[in-house]
Amino acid sequence: MNDMELVKWPFLKQDWGIEFASSKGAYLHTKDGRKILDAAGGAIVSNIGYGREEVADAIARAVRNNSYVLPPFLTPEREKLLDELREHWLPPHLSRIHLSSGGSEANESAVKLAIQYQASRGKPEKNIILTRSLSYHGTTLNLSGISGHESRKRGLESYVPKPITIETPYPLRCPLGKYHPDAKDYYLDNLKQTIREIDPKNIAALLMEPINGSSGGAIVPPDNYWLEAQEILKENDILLIADEVMTGFGRVGSDFASNTFGIEPDILIAGKGMGGGYAAIGGTYSTDKIADSIQKAGYEVMFHTFAALPQSCAASSEVLRILRDEKHCENVNPMGDKIMQLLNSEIGQHPHVAEIRGMGLLIGIEIVEDKSNLKPFDEDKKTTLKIMNKGLQEGVFLYPGGTGKYRDIICLGPAFIIGDTEVDLMVKALKESIDYAVSLN
Ligand SMILES: Cc1ncc(COP(=O)(O)O)c(C=O)c1O
Repeated sequence: MNDMELVKWPFLKQDWGIEFASSKGAYLHTKDGRKILDAAGGAIVSNIGYGREEVADAIARAVRNNSYVLPPFLTPEREKLLDELREHWLPPHLSRIHLSSGGSEANESAVKLAIQYQASRGKPEKNIILTRSLSYHGTTLNLSGISGHESRKRGLESYVPKPITIETPYPLRCPLGKYHPDAKDYYLDNLKQTIREIDPKNIAALLMEPINGSSGGAIVPPDNYWLEAQEILKENDILLIADEVMTGFGRVGSDFASNTFGIEPDILIAGKGMGGGYAAIGGTYSTDKIADSIQKAGYEVMFHTFAALPQSCAASSEVLRILRDEKHCENVNPMGDKIMQLLNSEIGQHPHVAEIRGMGLLIGIEIVEDKSNLKPFDEDKKTTLKIMNKGLQEGVFLYPGGTGKYRDIICLGPAFIIGDTEVDLMVKALKESIDYAVSLN
């Protein structure tokens, strides 16, 4: 047997030295009997925690009732989810719902809807999807191309579309200076200038994460940036697509980050927290105006075979019901504030911690070699990986962020059910892991 034949999982050889047997609440249990706090809810997915019997039962009931029904037909499981979404979560202007099997599919659907909408209005040349310099929208070829995530398109550059981007507001690294008071205007000018250069008649939409997910590690834009950006887009007849795959369904302390920023996206995308890890599900939500125009033009909105699976819909509606009934979203801001306070007191002055940032329970910690000029550690030092490995030894799973060019960002995004014990544990492990990793560099 050669070396590659020994690779059991995943596709490329990796040496985590750990195997998970089961999970419960906010913890993962290893095969060798250790308990690991999941400080990132997997890939910032698990909001109600793991192992809820009610969700397992809802899935089992759905499979018994309807193991598969073609996505466009209504079933009781689908109807229940649509009611849950419309009555309790979605902004009222987003009345149309297209379901898929995850964030990438949901984002691809959004891009298609935006381009079809413009074509349906007799504007087929309005087909550019603007994205942001630092961003991640998914793993398909198109989304890999148009996302601002260098490391996830390595080896594909010759094939995937080139992104056409505006600058991602990054207050720490604003070209005018760190946390510069004019940062908002600087980034809005960049948006205006980019639109002018490309010509609005060629631009269908801006696809953006209101707060960066793991690409930038919870980068929050300057106050009022999104409100004013939305006005600029409206003036130029450009759609706003909010990718809330990571920020949606309570993660940043409100139902959606768009609500926090007071914006009304034309299309909104959710994934991850929508099913809380119990279902492979994503949603693309849009206005009647967009759907009606596409319908009038006679275009198709094709489904994915496994979209809106009855068992996925049942899981998602149960997860969202639990979130509401048990008021877990009310714990997000208090716990997020506690983590931020403790991080600031424990590592705020650390010589290699450039910034601790975020909103609600989406938090990023950026590590640099030199705090004075924000120079990162060399990529081949693999600082993030060292921090993650040490974290696991300390009993905490931490999530890696960054795009390669911007790197060594650790993300925290635990389940909303955590308490003080978990906050203490994750901050202690993070501090020890950072100290350990930089001591090896
Ligand atoms: C903001 C954002 N959009 C889209 C995606 C892609 O979602 P999925 O991995 O479910 O396809 C992710 C995944 O990390 C994400 O964070």
